[in-house]
Amino acid sequence: MLNFELQNPTKILFGKGQIATIAKEIPANARVLMTYGGGSIKTNGVYEQVIEALKGHEVVEFSGIEPNPTYETLMKAVEIIRTEKLDYVLAVGGGSVIDGTKFIVAAVDFEGEPWDILAKSIRTTKAMPFGTVLTLPATGSEMNSGAVVTRVATQEKLSMGGPGLFPKFSVLDPEVIKSIPERQLRNGIVDAYTHVLEQYMTYPANAWLQDRFAESILQTLIEVAPKILADPSNYEAAANFMWSCTMALNGLIQKGVPTDWATHMIGHELTALYNIDHAMTLAIIFPNLYRNRFDNKKEKLAQYGERVWNITEGTTEEKAHAAIERTVAWLHELGVKTRLSEYTSDYAHTGEFIEKRFTERGWKGLGERRDITPEVVKEIVEMSY
Ligand code: NZQ
Ligand code: ZN
Repeated sequence: MLNFELQNPTKILFGKGQIATIAKEIPANARVLMTYGGGSIKTNGVYEQVIEALKGHEVVEFSGIEPNPTYETLMKAVEIIRTEKLDYVLAVGGGSVIDGTKFIVAAVDFEGEPWDILAKSIRTTKAMPFGTVLTLPATGSEMNSGAVVTRVATQEKLSMGGPGLFPKFSVLDPEVIKSIPERQLRNGIVDAYTHVLEQYMTYPANAWLQDRFAESILQTLIEVAPKILADPSNYEAAANFMWSCTMALNGLIQKGVPTDWATHMIGHELTALYNIDHAMTLAIIFPNLYRNRFDNKKEKLAQYGERVWNITEGTTEEKAHAAIERTVAWLHELGVKTRLSEYTSDYAHTGEFIEKRFTERGWKGLGERRDITPEVVKEIVEMSY
């Protein structure tokens, strides 16, 4: 097991009716900016619950944070905070609203051009305080310190993070899942599943407990997927789905183990170029990344095949191959398409384009062994056409 530090300060308020309790988490005299997306909270009752809970606070609203939040939109919220002198932010939404809010709270007091936080990978150690009300289980953003922001002008989608970006608190009320459309439920399942894979499908590191944590999240997602897709108002399924997504990316399972994340880095390019939903970009890339880096990953692939899919026959290699194919079959069972050409007809030069971008950015070696060079990225993307 590798050495590690673990600190996660986010307070979780889990369960039915928890939105009503948020006022006690926000200082009584705070002037609050409430951030949200395109309006789903106005039709599913979440907006009313938040406004009712905050009736003792002064609240300014900022709506219109789009899926894959953009720098261009978020800077408008930064201006509002500066001119109105607000001192707390409450994000009400999915990963995009929460990520966008992380950018906003980091940018407000940033000296210089805030896009540099992403372009120059500047860690955020201090930011304005913020809390979240999660409406879409998927990203884990509600209990981690990362965010991903898009710049429309340059078609770039980049990550940021740092210890200043943990939410002070997050409300996880599984009842919000009732109104989530099937497409977004599917996205949430696939995103959380891939988060676990990114932190697990590397090489054995004698981290037995972390492996079992990871496998249990995968097994729970497999169990819950058909139930939540069939009936998002099934509270027990919703609760297990929601907690699995949070646990998949709150830092716990990555401690003491090598991590990959190359699928995400490549996937972000596909979203920036073609506006493909984040989770779907992962489903396009990870099977081919595992086929391409097979020798690096075969021990963990075989272990995953055995423990998660009950593939017990054959050599390590045979079990590892079968594990990849079983996972792709599962994605298809969920209705997920796994080829780039099924999402866009404009894919012919994608591999070359991303290879060039990664070279320019100096991303010379991704993955747990730092051997996914821009040339290998091109191969993986071309395998995914
Ligand atoms: O904007 P509104 O109207 O709220 O609608 C949203 C949006 O259209 C809708 N929605 C959310 N909750 C709903 C709902 N509709 C009905 N009922 C509800 N309860 O769903 C749509 C998608 O929302 P979005 O927030 O974009 O989805 P998701 O949570 O999947 O977030 C994706 C973003 O998170 C980033 C992705 O790159 C992408 O930009 N990620 C963030 C990570 C992190 N911070 O750790 C890690 C992830 O790997 C990921 O990269
Ligand atoms: Zn993701």
